Amino acid sequence: MGNVSVLTTKAAVKEQVKAWRAEGLSVGLVPTMGYLHAGHESLIEAAKKSCDKVVVSIFVNPLQFGPEEDYDSYPRDLERDAQIVEAKGGDVIFHPEVEEMYPQGFSTNVIMNTLGDTLCGASRPVHFTGVCTVVTKLMNIVSPDRAFFGQKDAQQLAIIKRMVADLDMNLEVVGCPIVREEDGLAKSSRNTYLSSEERQAALVLSRAIFAGQKAVQEGMRDASALKTLMEGIINKEPLARIDYIEVVDGLTMQPVKQIEGSVLVAMAVYIGSTRLIDNFIWE
Ligand code: PAJ
Repeated sequence: MGNVSVLTTKAAVKEQVKAWRAEGLSVGLVPTMGYLHAGHESLIEAAKKSCDKVVVSIFVNPLQFGPEEDYDSYPRDLERDAQIVEAKGGDVIFHPEVEEMYPQGFSTNVIMNTLGDTLCGASRPVHFTGVCTVVTKLMNIVSPDRAFFGQKDAQQLAIIKRMVADLDMNLEVVGCPIVREEDGLAKSSRNTYLSSEERQAALVLSRAIFAGQKAVQEGMRDASALKTLMEGIINKEPLARIDYIEVVDGLTMQPVKQIEGSVLVAMAVYIGSTRLIDNFIWE
């Protein structure tokens, strides 16, 4: 597999990072669940720009999936992922087994309070505890200077920034813009679940996002009017079912009535049985 090495143990990663540190090199971490696409690639590129060495973790984290969710069917293809990481100039893939991350007796969680109660946290109750726990572990294993996350998962990014500040973790969290398909659909590993008819229907998400963004740019300040506008667009698509559309404060993730300061407009929509998310930020 060329220049990128796939490490499966925490010990091997720590040893590699220690060697890099001894040479005075800086380290970037890009946490992923694999099945890499252009969104992940943009994070690796950003990491390459500001760090000497880049670790990409590929781990489908069972802790962040609810019992009825897609943990078993989540797409996996290490071989293909390794080629992508290599092409983008990543140095190490950390690809642990579940037992390596959660050995018998594992009993500690990192729990986010209010920021995790709204949006995706309301529909997926265990999700952000699973995310915070695994991301903390990855940060402790790799001890990077910087870790890179996509704005695509805006609540996740806000939560991780909060967690790193709250727990005095010694790294910088870098947020990167949403990467989209040419027709607007936000890139996601879950897009592979869509039939061709659903793939077409999925365009309502970005269509609603762009229409919402335009309305706010043109002066709409009432959150419920904005939600009504965006719901109207989604509800025109028979294959779409809204999980939530919310307007929240960009830092606290709590609902707001007026669009002012930093605001996140986020949605989750089922297309058939596939749950997709999209958002925009208004500063
Ligand atoms: P995953 O869904 O694989 O995403 C890994 C990273 O890629 C996240 O930071 C996500 O926001 C970013 N990403 C995904 N699609 C993107 C897009 N279209 N544009 C820009 N960035 C995008 O998010 C997770 O995995 C997990 O929760 C994880 C943080 C790895 C913890 O298990």
